Amino acid sequence: MKVVIFGSKGYMGQYFLTLYPDAATPSVDIADIRAVGEVLDSEKPDVVINCAGKTGRPNVDWCEDHKEETIHSNVVGPLVLVEECNKRNIYFVHLGTGCVYSGDCSTPFSETDAPNFFGSFYSRSKGLIDQLLNDFPVLNIRLRMPFDGTSNDRNLISKIKKYDRLLDTENSMTYIPDLLNAAQKLIEKRATGPYNIVNPGAMTPFRIMELYKEIVDPSHTFELLREEDLSDVAKAGRSSCVLSGQKLESEGIAMKPVEEAVREALEALKSTENS
Ligand SMILES: NC(=O)c1ccc[n+]([C@@H]2O[C@H](COP(=O)([O-])OP(=O)(O)OC[C@H]3O[C@@H](n4cnc5c(N)ncnc54)[C@H](OP(=O)(O)O)[C@@H]3O)[C@@H](O)[C@H]2O)c1
Repeated sequence: MKVVIFGSKGYMGQYFLTLYPDAATPSVDIADIRAVGEVLDSEKPDVVINCAGKTGRPNVDWCEDHKEETIHSNVVGPLVLVEECNKRNIYFVHLGTGCVYSGDCSTPFSETDAPNFFGSFYSRSKGLIDQLLNDFPVLNIRLRMPFDGTSNDRNLISKIKKYDRLLDTENSMTYIPDLLNAAQKLIEKRATGPYNIVNPGAMTPFRIMELYKEIVDPSHTFELLREEDLSDVAKAGRSSCVLSGQKLESEGIAMKPVEEAVREALEALKSTENS
C-alpha cells in the first residue's frame, strides 16, 4: 500500500509516520492545487493522510490573530486534497477534531450531531471542514486532547503539567497508541465518514494531575481553575465535551477506558522521568 502523509513533520504526522514508515512525506502547501496534483501524479498513492493544519503555538489562541492562515490550512487545504484525491480515485484520510462541541457527559455527541461550539476561531475552522467533508467519501478521524506516555511538549499531560490552575471539567480524550491502532484498522477497511476516536469515559485535566501526583511526582502542585475564570488564562473559549464512541465500537474496534489509558501513560512517563 502506497501512502502519502501531508504534515508529516507535525505532532500527529510523526505518529502516523510510525504507522507507515515507508510513506512519502512531501512538504508542499496543501492548499496549492498544482503542487498537490504534482505530488499525487508522481507518487500515485493508494492512501493520502492529511496531518497538516494550523493548531496554533503556543496554543489555539494563535488562530484568533491569524485567521487567514488558519482558514488556508484548515479549510482550503483539506478541500484541495479532497478534490485532487477524488479526481484520481485516491482514498483520503483527514485528521479532524471533536473540539467542535460544547456539552457534558449527559449528552455524548455522535458523528451525526452538527457542531455547537463556536467560541474559538480554531474550532470554527475545524467545524466548517468537518461538515463539508460529510458530503465526500473521506475518512474523518475526530480525536480529542491526545496524550501518551512520552515527554513530547504537545502531549496533553506535558501541557497541563505546566499549568498552575486546571479545569475540573469532564472531557473525552484520545490515547495515542489506541488512536493509531483504530486508524490503521479503519484505513485497512477503507472506512469513510466521520469517526469519533476517543477512549470510553471522561476525564478532567484536574483529575489527570491528581493521578500524576499519585503515580509520577508527589511534590507536584496545582490549583483548581473555575470555568468562569478561564478568560484569565485564555484569549479564546475552549470546547468541553464528551463524544460517543459507539460508531467505532460497532466496527469491532476497541479503545481502553480513559482512566486505564491515563494510568498506563503515567506509568510510562514515570519510567522516563525517573531514568
Ligand atoms: N494536537 C491536538 O491536540 C489535536 C487534537 C485534535 C485534532 N488535531 C488535528 O490534527 C491535525 C494535526 O495537528 P498537530 O497537533 O499534529 O499539529 P502540528 O504539530 O501543528 O502539525 C501540523 C503540521 O502541518 C503543517 N502545516 C500547516 N499548514 C500547512 C499547509 N498549508 N500545508 C502543508 N503543511 C502545513 C505544519 O507546519 P508549520 O508548523 O510550518 O505550520 C505542521 O508541520 C490538525 O488538523 C489538528 O486540527 C490535533
